[in-house]
Amino acid sequence: MKTLVQNGMIVTADGRTEADILVDGGIIAQIGRGLPTAVDKKIDARGKYVLPGGIDVHTHLDMPFGGSFSVDDFRTGTIAAAFGGTTCIVDFAIQERGQSLRHAFDTWMKKAEGKAAIDYGFHMIMRESTPELREEMGAMVREGVTSFKLFMAYPGVFYMDDASIFRTMQRSGEIGALICMHAENGPVIDVLIEQARAKGHKAPKWHALTRPARLEAEATYRAICLAEVADVPVYIVHLSASEALEQVTAARDRGLPAFAETCPQYLFLSYDNYEEPGFDGAKYVMSPPLRAKEKQKDLWRGLKFNDLQAVATDHCPFCMKDEKQLGKDDFSKIPNGAPGIETRMSLMYDGGVLAGHITLERFVEITSTAPAKIFGLYPKKGTIAVGTDADLVVFDPNRTTTWSAKTHHMNVDYNPYEGRVCKGAVDTVLSRGEVVIEKNLFVGKVGRGEFVKRKAR
Ligand code: URP
Ligand code: ZN
Ligand code: ZN
Repeated sequence: MKTLVQNGMIVTADGRTEADILVDGGIIAQIGRGLPTAVDKKIDARGKYVLPGGIDVHTHLDMPFGGSFSVDDFRTGTIAAAFGGTTCIVDFAIQERGQSLRHAFDTWMKKAEGKAAIDYGFHMIMRESTPELREEMGAMVREGVTSFKLFMAYPGVFYMDDASIFRTMQRSGEIGALICMHAENGPVIDVLIEQARAKGHKAPKWHALTRPARLEAEATYRAICLAEVADVPVYIVHLSASEALEQVTAARDRGLPAFAETCPQYLFLSYDNYEEPGFDGAKYVMSPPLRAKEKQKDLWRGLKFNDLQAVATDHCPFCMKDEKQLGKDDFSKIPNGAPGIETRMSLMYDGGVLAGHITLERFVEITSTAPAKIFGLYPKKGTIAVGTDADLVVFDPNRTTTWSAKTHHMNVDYNPYEGRVCKGAVDTVLSRGEVVIEKNLFVGKVGRGEFVKRKAR
């Protein structure tokens, strides 16, 4: 199958150029002008951008959490991702207490196989760090699971103590893996939650009020210190607080390999959303929580100057009418997480590029190229070059997208950006050369997505 994407403006992290792209057998075969037109399919991209497919390195599909499961599975979640211009995700397999990493890997492979519409990889969440599990990390790396998420938050669920984190970090150094850290001081947060509940506080906003920015900053600093002593890189996931960013910036200024991602919700939503009437604040219950609006500029600055390297979604959707109701009378029981897999590229283009915070090239870098490099997907994914996977997005800068739960493709009953009009819209999406989105329809095959073996560092 040969496809020619004609007359578009190709944008990569390094620049832009007007040229055609010839795709052959799922791979980019040629880039240039006047390419052979004897092909099976032509896509006219005149007046449009041709971008490398978005890479979302933080999703939770079909994830057991907070007494229920996130409501997008690998079918609905990856189709929604494709609609939003994302062609590769890295989701999280979860090791159960007393179980092996292999068991978790097999379980998540089964969740994805036959369902995923785009390519996917896995990080591994480790709930505990025994000598056997640390040994097994090497086998996971050989399978292409080259990053491990550890939690300083959620005592009794995912929380890991500092000594175990440190040992796991040391092991990651031996095998060229990367530690992804959920950096919040969970034990102290639990004290604040207990005290708030004792005073009778029930509303969703107390989720945020019991997770202060300083406890994210403290954990971020601690994670970086542990990584420094273990002599390994560390990647801070879903960074929300500018106080935490200060720690990452200081570490990077000292030359440490500290990396961090933020998420659109921390750039476009704020603490004020928790004050919405009734129980609506539950829509935004996620960890870390949304922060003060006036601090968003610090995150934008971090993105601009590369103290933040990536924007992922932490897509972990729960319905307002069902799962979120678990916390109707107790903020601490509201399942943590919000949808975002479909809205990321649109928000970052409209609210990032058009708002003047970042260039178009930087937009490509933080949503695709840098995550691909950090997580061992590059150059197979994350750029547009001869020999790489033809994961391409034809993006129309002149159309608009209006976000609504009525029209989005995520399997969740609300959209945190309901009514927001974003300039720019995804036209056509190719995943390894196959058109999966066209004329606002999913035209790919469910289950065609492949597991991507990622490289170690
Ligand atoms: O609230 C969140 N972030 N839910 C997903 C789990 C996690 O910590 O990433
Ligand atoms: Zn987390
Ligand atoms: Zn997450």
